[in-house]
Amino acid sequence: MLRTHTCGDLNEKSIGKEVTLCGWVHTRRDHGELIFIDLRDKYGLTQVLFDPEKNRRLHTEVHKLKSEYVVRVKGVVGARPKDSENPKLKTGKIEVLAEDFKILSRSETPPFEIEDSAKVTEDTRLVHRYLDIRRPSMQKKFELRHKICKRARDFLDREDYLEMETPILTKSTPEGARDFLVPSRLTPGAFYALPQSPQLFKQILMVAGIDKYFQIAKCFRDEDLRADRQPEFTQLDIEASFVEEEDIYNLCEGLMKGLYKEVLNIDIKTPFERLAYDEAMERFGSDKPDMRFGCEIVDLTDELKGSEFKIFQNAVKSGGRIKAISTPGASKISLKIINELTAFIGEFGAKGLAYLKVEGDKLSSPIAKFFKKDEQDVVRKKLKSKPGDMIFMVADAEKTALESLGGLRLRLAYEMKLIPKDKDIAFLWVHDFPLFKYNDEEKRWDTEHHPFTSPKDHDLDKLPKDMRSIRARAYDLVISGVEVASGSIRIHDREMQERLFGIIGIERSEAERRFGFLLRAFKYGVPPHGGIALGLDRLITLFTNDRSIREVIAFPKTQKGYCPLTNAPSLVPDGQLKELNIKLRK
Ligand code: AMO
Ligand code: AMP
Repeated sequence: MLRTHTCGDLNEKSIGKEVTLCGWVHTRRDHGELIFIDLRDKYGLTQVLFDPEKNRRLHTEVHKLKSEYVVRVKGVVGARPKDSENPKLKTGKIEVLAEDFKILSRSETPPFEIEDSAKVTEDTRLVHRYLDIRRPSMQKKFELRHKICKRARDFLDREDYLEMETPILTKSTPEGARDFLVPSRLTPGAFYALPQSPQLFKQILMVAGIDKYFQIAKCFRDEDLRADRQPEFTQLDIEASFVEEEDIYNLCEGLMKGLYKEVLNIDIKTPFERLAYDEAMERFGSDKPDMRFGCEIVDLTDELKGSEFKIFQNAVKSGGRIKAISTPGASKISLKIINELTAFIGEFGAKGLAYLKVEGDKLSSPIAKFFKKDEQDVVRKKLKSKPGDMIFMVADAEKTALESLGGLRLRLAYEMKLIPKDKDIAFLWVHDFPLFKYNDEEKRWDTEHHPFTSPKDHDLDKLPKDMRSIRARAYDLVISGVEVASGSIRIHDREMQERLFGIIGIERSEAERRFGFLLRAFKYGVPPHGGIALGLDRLITLFTNDRSIREVIAFPKTQKGYCPLTNAPSLVPDGQLKELNIKLRK
């Protein structure tokens, strides 16, 4: 055996024992004659003492040791003198008096210290991810990731779900992003697509009588990346037969309850709150509202359309609405910040941001003069504003007004620290999404989710007249403003499926080309089925309290889809392209 103990094992009970430890040299401290090495591994730090009086040769040799050398140390465990005990360490009461050591591997000076407190850019961390992951906080994140996966597997196993794998080299799946393609050498000119999700395969497994399926599945999407999006990410993917919405809600609530209890020792309340999509948009301007704080959006169209403010009059005349939020304690923010906020909501398409400070029972700002006293009073009352608040108003097309204020509400919550630190985690089901959305560029209707999502039963008759009002049997799980999971009850009727393809302009031949394998399977007896997929990276990020999913992925890619560790993607030799029958364009 290379080691008898790890660097986290030894304590007072080990005193007097002969031990062998292996690990990295964390620090070397020379105290006059005595030299101390902190030896580090995954499990902790152990202090090793080199005393010249005990072993002169060893004491000379130890000067060769530098940070991050890998060494094997033999010695005897002793008690530390009382005044040099370290209560912060598990091994803080003992040290190992070295009798011999061997260098197993040397290290260059690392580009940053292996300490949680080291200040390092993300790029350097990703180039040297192996050093980054040596740090204790990163080790903890991956232990937590392991625990979540393990507990989720155990939970689903107890619920009779079968873990199955589905192909990575496959056909395009319909999650709405661009595909990553892999050229086929054996069929020149043909390509596999990497799956955007296992959606079609899990539905086919239901036709195959598997009844309850799950998978910790890699998904691939060539889309614009953000803090919560990676081109390659992991889903906890679930599908079951003979289920309805309530079954999926129950299953996920049980899963979440177990994970929060077993991993973080937090008791969460079930059932989770629910909001229909329309109400979520009305009150929060978002389909994934953060419910940990108020600051809800209020409609002031009826109250203010008669005011003297021309911009509001005109917006309402052209079919728009006046929406507002009241932000606690924001009345002091400067004109410079207001200009920044105006630019920010511009990104949502809003044409301007009106603001009113609440001062006592009055409102003040350059536009306050356009609002009569009774109008001001009703605004304050409807928004439940308090002195010191700032009221922000947007008059625009309803969607623009809601989404821009929804964005502003979140931004101000972070900047003004409106989310109480001790606030419970806010779990929410958002349901009754629209089935269709209008594709402005291509002037046609698309499905909001993938096209296998079932319409709500009583909405069928509206097809295809009142497209906007048709609801889907789709649901999202939102945790503290993060869309963690998304799923639906599926269409299991072949005719219905074809009718839907027709509405979104997928012709029979195209449906056959893209999804023929699913439609063929649907000829042979399909159980009603539904499911959900949890974004595992996002869920873990909530557990670790990180802001970016890159923190919980061992080898993530940058915003440009680049891997700083391996330099992927990279050019390939001509010969390799030739073999694949590929010629690059200029
Ligand atoms: P959807 O596309 O909504 O649904 O994905 C499900 C969940 O996966 C996470 N997610 C991502 N995480 C990181 N990076 C990405 N690029 C990314 N894209 C999505 C989100 C999201 O809620 N097949 C359907 C599910 C179903 O209907 O059962 C699907 O994939 O947390
Ligand atoms: P202006 O008359 O253009 O200087 O605008 C006066 C104020 O109204 C400014 O604070 C603008 O940001 C704001 N404003 C302009 N258009 C809108 C709008 N559509 N909704 C809300 N506020 C607006």
